[in-house]
Amino acid sequence: MKIGIVGGTGDIGEGMAMRLAPHFDVLVGSREKEKAEISCQQGNETLKKRGHECYLSAASNQKAIDDAEIVILAIPFRHLAGTLETLHGFDDKIVVSPINPMEKREFFVFVPPPEGSAALLVKKILPERARVCSAFNTIAANKWKALDEELVYSVPVCSDDAAAKQQVMKVINTISKLQAFDAGPLAVSAMVESLTPLLLNIARYNRMRDVGIQFR
Ligand SMILES: NC(=O)c1ccc[n+]([C@@H]2O[C@H](COP(=O)([O-])OP(=O)(O)OC[C@H]3O[C@@H](n4cnc5c(N)ncnc54)[C@H](OP(=O)(O)O)[C@@H]3O)[C@@H](O)[C@H]2O)c1
Repeated sequence: MKIGIVGGTGDIGEGMAMRLAPHFDVLVGSREKEKAEISCQQGNETLKKRGHECYLSAASNQKAIDDAEIVILAIPFRHLAGTLETLHGFDDKIVVSPINPMEKREFFVFVPPPEGSAALLVKKILPERARVCSAFNTIAANKWKALDEELVYSVPVCSDDAAAKQQVMKVINTISKLQAFDAGPLAVSAMVESLTPLLLNIARYNRMRDVGIQFR
């Protein structure tokens, strides 16, 4: 299965790409071909050193959508609408939003759009046939990149498309020790997205780093 990452050169995208590559064909998307190539070269060197026989492929964001069955939107919330306007071909694709609309003020604050969440905004912007899910909202970029550490986290997944949600949960359960949980319809994503500013506040006020969640 091919997974495309829009904004795959970023903090979360690079780590995700390396964690996914041993199991799936990963396309690292970018607005700039050269940036994607550099990111893939570094990722491939890291994977090779660790004995993995797998390769990340550099792509434009559009190619990362066109050639993949699952597309992860690893871009900041403030650039979400503008970026989606420049892209097409989402019909029948599973589109995963890890996007958390939040701001750092005196403390971290959840700042959702009028639709209620980033995931619902994605659903509104994309064509009806895009199969929108939210997932991966609560795993810190540093943890994705720390390949020596297992990812021992719970991952809530929201979607109105039951089959797409099952497929995304299957992908999640292949990565390290991640455990996917069905969190319900896409309308629940606001609650999941709001967990990240909470985790960042907990990290800050308790002098912790990269706090995550586990359901047990
Ligand atoms: N960082 C975390 O720990 C974390 C954890 C959980 C969820 N998330 C969510 O994951 C998403 C990505 O976070 P991140 O920290 O990886 O973001 P980031 O590193 O700031 O940016 C990711 C990528 O977005 C692209 N981008 C930047 N500005 C853009 C613009 N003006 N228009 C279009 N694309 C642009 C860039 O790719 P190119 O320049 O190559 O096009 C960049 O590499 C966010 O929505 C965040 O809420 C992040």
